[in-house]
Amino acid sequence: MAHGCASGLHPDVFEPHLSAWALTIDGEAFASSSGHLLPVRWQGQPAMLKVTDEPEELAGNRLMVWWNGGGAAPVLAHGGNALLLARAQGLDTLTQMVHQGRDDEATRILCATAAQLHAPRPSPRPALVPLEPWFNALWAGAQTHGGVLEHCASTARTLLAAPRDTMVLHGDIHHGNVLDFGPAGWLAIDPKGLYGERGFDHANLFCNPDPESALAPGRFERRIEIVAQVAGIERQRLLQWVLAWAGLSMVWSEEDHGVPGRTLEIAQKAAAALGLVD
Ligand SMILES: Nc1ncnc2c1ncn2[C@@H]1O[C@H](COP(=O)(O)OP(=O)(O)O)[C@@H](O)[C@H]1O
Ligand SMILES: [Mg+2]
Repeated sequence: MAHGCASGLHPDVFEPHLSAWALTIDGEAFASSSGHLLPVRWQGQPAMLKVTDEPEELAGNRLMVWWNGGGAAPVLAHGGNALLLARAQGLDTLTQMVHQGRDDEATRILCATAAQLHAPRPSPRPALVPLEPWFNALWAGAQTHGGVLEHCASTARTLLAAPRDTMVLHGDIHHGNVLDFGPAGWLAIDPKGLYGERGFDHANLFCNPDPESALAPGRFERRIEIVAQVAGIERQRLLQWVLAWAGLSMVWSEEDHGVPGRTLEIAQKAAAALGLVD
């Protein structure tokens, strides 16, 4: 699964791409949860080279190419397991914005970016991953752990059985995956390349950028109000997607770290707002 930790960093992973695309190194390499990244220059322009180990990331790479810079970082080159993106140069981040008390602004930016990504395109869409198998880990997790996860799983099943408004989805929209490209605006990176109901793409922001921010008093309710209004999603349907997503995220976190994390509290808030628990 793409939520796992990257293995050790091999210096040679970048080498074939550096020579093929005539790149010069422009910073320190680092390992992320799904690959290896290296700041580079391409034809003098600041760029970011990402080489991935995970086959699941390739659907995301195909989608970045298809978006062609509309709502997403421009792709400068791609091939095999590597993607070369324009590098974000702006000084702001959505995480800082949240920490500075500008949460509403950050939420609106995430909604605006999602709207751009979701806009129809004339060219045929690339091969994508349907939403239903993406939730697979939740079914087993709910059986093992019970509790609120059972509400997450049954809600996810209800949503997936009768999808509305299906489209190309980013699959991982959160504060760390939408970057400040200065005059070009806020653009997405790191999609999972999914296909399904639009509401799904608005769920993950509720668990981010960190538990303290997501669980600040009144924050959850305020974000629900803003996203429902700005994205035009029925409040109840949005709460259901948040509940389903929080369940999946808890199960992944349990698999990766052995603990469900504070996403449990987001799930409980969504379940309570839906009247499923007290
Ligand atoms: N095009 C880019 N411009 C600037 N920073 C980037 C770019 N792509 C990735 N990064 C930085 O690298 C981090 C990890 O990249 P990302 O593709 O999101 O990997 P992961 O799958 O681990 O989340 C991002 O959160 C961002 O800080
Ligand atoms: Mg990321």
